[in-house]
Amino acid sequence: MVSAMSTRRRAAIAALAALVPGVVPAGCEEPLQPVSEPPTLLAEAGDYTMWARPKNRAERQPVVAPHGGFVDIYINDVVVADQAMVLPEGLPAWSDEAMVVLAGYDAMEGGSLVQVAVMQKQAGVWAWEQYDGSSEEPRFSGRPDVCVGCHSAGEDFIRSFRLPDPPPEE
Ligand code: HEC
Repeated sequence: MVSAMSTRRRAAIAALAALVPGVVPAGCEEPLQPVSEPPTLLAEAGDYTMWARPKNRAERQPVVAPHGGFVDIYINDVVVADQAMVLPEGLPAWSDEAMVVLAGYDAMEGGSLVQVAVMQKQAGVWAWEQYDGSSEEPRFSGRPDVCVGCHSAGEDFIRSFRLPDPPPEE
């Protein structure tokens, strides 16, 4: 049974909702949208195949690494800008928001995408993601020990290219 009071209340809520779009009136418990997950690094990267590539990695390269036999490496504009820096002592670490994407294939030419791996510098610390093939669900994400452990062998955790050197001495 619907009381007169609750009918008035509903009308008031409807009026308020119409006046202030996007505002959920207090007492209306149902959320307008499901609570969303934060976007994955891969979603943030978007079409990384349009990105630049490290100078030593203009082409796909065979690798001995758990990333598919043949990899393409892509770097975002933060890494590109960092690489252009010539500092007396070189660059000690990549900047925040730096992103590197690895696309692993099963062949040197063409082939199938067998893996995608992503790194992003967040407040001085790398965040990681790895996907099987073109899956949209990461198999690893966050700061997995397995990634960090092996990558600690690289300069600032990057294995396929180096930090910019200091300028050559005259
Ligand atoms: C056993 C060692 C090893 C492990 C474990 C490993 N990687 Fe790598 N990774 C490498 C090597 C070596 C390269 C460089 C490959 C190349 O030369 O192209 C690399 C390259 C990458 C790159 C391209 C940037 C770079 O560092 O060169 C990304 C991104 C990446 N790995 C992500 C991951 C993620 C995410 C994980 C964990 C799920 C992971 N890796 C686990 C060895 C490893």
